[in-house]
Amino acid sequence: MKKEKMKFYKLEESKSIVTFGNSNKKNSFHSIIIKNSIIFSFIFIIMFFGFSMYANNEINNIAATIYKSKKDTNEKMNSSSNNLETVKVKYDEKYEILINKANQISQEVLDLYKQVDVKNNIYPNIKIEKTTYNNYIKLKKAVENKGYFLNIRDGFRSFKDSENIYKQYEIKYGTKYAEKYVAKPGASEHNAGIAFDFVISKDKNATNTDYNSDEYFYLESIAYLYGFIIRYPQGKEDITGYEYEPWHFRYVGVDLAKYLTKNNLTLEEYYKTEE
Ligand code: DAL
Ligand code: ZN
Repeated sequence: MKKEKMKFYKLEESKSIVTFGNSNKKNSFHSIIIKNSIIFSFIFIIMFFGFSMYANNEINNIAATIYKSKKDTNEKMNSSSNNLETVKVKYDEKYEILINKANQISQEVLDLYKQVDVKNNIYPNIKIEKTTYNNYIKLKKAVENKGYFLNIRDGFRSFKDSENIYKQYEIKYGTKYAEKYVAKPGASEHNAGIAFDFVISKDKNATNTDYNSDEYFYLESIAYLYGFIIRYPQGKEDITGYEYEPWHFRYVGVDLAKYLTKNNLTLEEYYKTEE
């Protein structure tokens, strides 16, 4: 045991080749490594805690923005007249978000969604949210393999767009009708680009859909596999607050789309039963 210690000590001594300043004192290679390791560890710990604090701060900022938006919305909606309940919202899931007359979305939250151009579309200048788009492309390919053509006729809408569409409907069909079909700025899923209105047909350039056709049934039956739901289904008008819109797809992610489709639930029902 002693012998071994001696050997080790001697080895250290023999490697003592570094001298500091004018001093003749020699430092062992080993002790320098230890010193440097301590210094680097110290720097690493400081950087790690610094970064954690920064990251936490970022997350807290986003959470605070979302919370503030929900709070503002609830306050606004509690004082307004509509028969939809203000329900619990899982805002931490970007694609599972509930947007409706009672749960409006602020511009700050909308900035979390990145909009991209829709390519190979018969309608020009359409944008939708990036992940929604990637899944839409997969869905489009799946229906094309069956000989059907899917196009988006309306995607992302700015608040101004929503305001204009609502006004046009109001002038043309009256307020009651407009309220049943068009969401006001901040209350529309189109504002986040995670919803879009589509056309499907056997005809490549069609601008109308036959909702009793094979192509529509096929699309409707496979949509959930790509994360899409018919957001305003027939028979649930009082729950969603809108008339049946067979053309309006909402991206909610594959897991939730599967769950909602298999259980025949709207997002409103899902959030209500979750509490
Ligand atoms: N048509 C749906 C409700 C919207 O305007 O967002
Ligand atoms: Zn729509």
